[in-house]
Amino acid sequence: MRVLSGMRPTGRLHLGHYHGVLVNWLKLQTEYECFFFAADWHALTTDYADPKGIKENVREMVLDWLSVGIDPKRTIIFRQSQIKEHAELHVLLSMITPLSWLERNPTYKEQLGELREKDLHTFGFLGYPVLQTADIIIYKAQKVPVGVDQAPHLELSREITRRFNHFYGQVFPEPQTILTETPKVLGTDGRKMSKSYNNAIFLSDPPQEAEKKMLAMMTDTARKRRTDAGNPGLCPFYQTYHALYSDAKTVAWVKEGCAAAGIGCTDCKKAVIPKVLALLEPIRKKRSELEADPAIVEAILKDGARCAFEAANKTMREVRAAMGLE
Ligand code: TRP
Ligand code: SF4
Repeated sequence: MRVLSGMRPTGRLHLGHYHGVLVNWLKLQTEYECFFFAADWHALTTDYADPKGIKENVREMVLDWLSVGIDPKRTIIFRQSQIKEHAELHVLLSMITPLSWLERNPTYKEQLGELREKDLHTFGFLGYPVLQTADIIIYKAQKVPVGVDQAPHLELSREITRRFNHFYGQVFPEPQTILTETPKVLGTDGRKMSKSYNNAIFLSDPPQEAEKKMLAMMTDTARKRRTDAGNPGLCPFYQTYHALYSDAKTVAWVKEGCAAAGIGCTDCKKAVIPKVLALLEPIRKKRSELEADPAIVEAILKDGARCAFEAANKTMREVRAAMGLE
């Protein structure tokens, strides 16, 4: 069973990535043959006007993967743009993909509306799911772990795969989505944790910095004074940190203390912050070990690219033959 997933390189990763994606990847790599890659061409679909940061973002992201324990000895870690066969398959799939399928893609329509500061009326952006399909099926991956926001793309991938097989014979297995649970990880301002909101706690933040951010994080806004009662159900700090890190006893203590104004928000936060710091500590330590060798990321990506190429090239021979190109 082969598992594949990719991430667009956005630079250093934060707790939202950890709980939403990396925890799943860590588990999967112990059970399956995994391919995890940096989707740098996908980053270009939105950042084509200013691509300078992409290479550094790949490096930072891969450093974080390695720091949390994604293991290059058992998992193939690579960079999309180093495997040119993805682009070849993208061209071939583009021949058979109806425009209407791409135009009705809900993620496409949503992003056109949201990212208004960028002109996304490009061929590349419309074809985003075609490239994503090539990424997946070129390795004949059967399982693709993604968050719910990516589910429409995966549905399209299955449709494109079926259409290919219909025209040219049964070359590809239909990829199945593994919908990964994405726990609610909120940033310091109470919105979803995101680098672009400037509200994130990064895996590489020094402990003092992470602690400072958590102590400054928004709580139940109705609780203005220490003597006001609060409601953990309306508190972003509680919903993120106590929900993810605290044991039942601490949770009970918080619920009671908050509702009765028996504890202050600082006491409440200090009861869980050490748990978060304990998670981050070994990650940071591993990262500084890795950073001591500036060539290590390149070396791991090169190794991964060798294995990925072998698999992709094998598939492309079948594809070219099936389409009468070879
Ligand atoms: N579109 C995915 C994201 O933004 C990244 C991605 C690219 C991907 N190719 C993929 C994910 C193939 C899974 C499989 O998160
Ligand atoms: Fe949130 Fe805790 Fe303050 Fe209640 S006491 S508002 S749960 S931080």
